[in-house]
Amino acid sequence: MRNTAEGKTGSTLPPLLEARDVSFSYPGTRKDALRGLTLSIPAGQKTAICGHNGSGKSTFFLHAIGIHRPAAGALLWKGQPVSYQAGALRRWRQQAGLVFQDPEHQLILNTPYEDITYGLRNAGVSEEEIRLRTRSILASMGLTELADTPIHHLSLGQKKRTALAGVLALEPELLLLDEPTAYLDPASERRLIEELDRIHGSGVTVVMATHDTNLAYAWADRVLVMDGGRCLLEGPAPEVFSRKEELHPLGITPPLLLELWEALPASVRGSAPPPRSTEAFKQLLGTV
Ligand SMILES: Nc1ncnc2c1ncn2[C@@H]1O[C@H](COP(=O)(O)OP(=O)(O)OP(=O)(O)O)[C@@H](O)[C@H]1O
Ligand SMILES: [Mg+2]
Repeated sequence: MRNTAEGKTGSTLPPLLEARDVSFSYPGTRKDALRGLTLSIPAGQKTAICGHNGSGKSTFFLHAIGIHRPAAGALLWKGQPVSYQAGALRRWRQQAGLVFQDPEHQLILNTPYEDITYGLRNAGVSEEEIRLRTRSILASMGLTELADTPIHHLSLGQKKRTALAGVLALEPELLLLDEPTAYLDPASERRLIEELDRIHGSGVTVVMATHDTNLAYAWADRVLVMDGGRCLLEGPAPEVFSRKEELHPLGITPPLLLELWEALPASVRGSAPPPRSTEAFKQLLGTV
């Protein structure tokens, strides 16, 4: 699994992004926020990063777009060490987009419409395309009615959706989402996941930090678990979430569907792989 991605042709590609033994501490602090972090983000996959508060998820994301630089270790983009020279950094940030955990850190302009179009204009997109993309992303994030509302009049969930829309519209090659579903109501979460699946279907690599293990299990191809600034577990979602003895001390609750499935008698489960959605669960029960 580690450090390589099998392409559809079977060829071995370098990961899109890799952290090698990265350490970092915030200025004025003694504690390492990242402590020898080694992980890889394979191209074309959906990766979820789990870990309790303070485990280093957001700090890793801030390294993944070059806002923070490792004190030791290195970041690699498509197998090459990244450069922090201004031009290279600008190109890197066009390819890797981050939706911040706190939307207040992301939103710059006065209204959702202005904020989204500003990002697209900065990225050099044509005015015609800006109009099309903005209208489309506002609709898919359920923001059309709020397009011209002052941002400081929006609720936290509406701000979060606006921040998401602004980054999704830029269509980066690597999309990093820090707690994207926090503050979203169920309908908005469903819309977001549909939008992410559409974007992923167009070839974008998507990484999400989340405390919601039910979502990580249902959505992700791969799951990484961080603790104390390191990555302790990585692998396919059902495999990682089955490792209960290792997850328990890290404060990570296994997904409900997996818990229920594993509670069924082995004779009922048969040799079927664990279901990843309620529908799949019901279907499996119906066919046994
Ligand atoms: N701006 C900052 N200044 C100083 N220390 C910070 C800062 N941001 C984070 N830290 C510290 O770095 C460590 C990692 O924090 P980080 O925000 O990356 O964790 P996280 O996994 O994203 O947590 P959460 O689940 O709460 O979002 C923590 O010990 C935290 O206290
Ligand atoms: Mg965080």
